[in-house]
Amino acid sequence: MALLEVKGITKIFTQKKKPAHVVLENMSFTVERGQYVSLLGPSGCGKTTLLTMLGGFLTPDEGQIVLAGNKVERPGPDRGFVFQNYALFPWMTVKENILYSLKVKKLSKKEQNERLQELLEISHLFGSENKYPVQLSGGMQQRVAVVRALASRPEILLLDEPLGAIDFQMRELLQEELAALVQGAKTTVVMVTHDVNESVYLSDRVIVMSAHKGQIVQDVYIDLDRPRDRQSEGFKAYVSELTELVRQAFHEKVVDIEIPPGFTEKDANYNNQISFTDAYNRMTSKYTNNVTNTRVAK
Ligand SMILES: Nc1ncnc2c1ncn2[C@@H]1O[C@H](COP(=O)(O)OP(=O)(O)OP(=O)(O)O)[C@@H](O)[C@H]1O
Ligand SMILES: [Mg+2]
Repeated sequence: MALLEVKGITKIFTQKKKPAHVVLENMSFTVERGQYVSLLGPSGCGKTTLLTMLGGFLTPDEGQIVLAGNKVERPGPDRGFVFQNYALFPWMTVKENILYSLKVKKLSKKEQNERLQELLEISHLFGSENKYPVQLSGGMQQRVAVVRALASRPEILLLDEPLGAIDFQMRELLQEELAALVQGAKTTVVMVTHDVNESVYLSDRVIVMSAHKGQIVQDVYIDLDRPRDRQSEGFKAYVSELTELVRQAFHEKVVDIEIPPGFTEKDANYNNQISFTDAYNRMTSKYTNNVTNTRVAK
């Protein structure tokens, strides 16, 4: 049986005086134990909403999420969550941040200390355990966030753009560290990212979501040896394939734009044309900034 089963989930947001917004509709997929799965998709397509539901912070309107045979209904120590921008507790030291979930779990002092030593070892944070987050570099904060999420030995690690705020040069280095950390902990991961290159570097599988009701456009298995070679033809071919899929997923949103009341179809097309070019440029640059050779013959 798969470790994680997402079975026909639908999420609808309702706001006063606005039509109901169907963010995800009848979405299903499974994740096997030990797999590293990335979610790619246009901004606003529901990636964070999905991850938040996997974490149990939000419940689906229909369908269900099952983790290791148990229905997910609330947050729990079987899921480690890394929020965007790490969200470390700024008033706690590295050690206190890491130990937080172990204290919640009521582990003994001895067990807490053993686990702390293990986690400092795999994250190369020895010597920094008494520092506060503000005294650490972005990369170190990111490592603290990941090991804090790993502290309670969760079944699954849920990462929402864990490297989103980090610049490109540092990012590749941190992707390598993240890959080693996750492999060391032998954990299952679902990660949201905007970066195609990153998804190919880290994942066993990349799920591409469309802007329209978070449908799964494609589920791509990345069949490359680890550690991955970003310069290899195979790597570039996956980046190229996924970049194209994300482009298609973005286009769907444009087709989907509703004509506001009082506008004719012609007006709407004209207006969409302007916003389309602008939005498209912004979106594709977000996805393809790091992609060097995206056109590789298949
Ligand atoms: N609590 C909420 N109430 C109402 N609408 C919401 C709520 N949370 C999210 N939404 C809407 O649901 C849609 C999906 O949001 P979500 O944050 O999941 O997108 P995303 O794919 O993570 O986008 P991004 O890539 O920009 O982070 C958006 O249109 C957003 O405005
Ligand atoms: Mg998001």
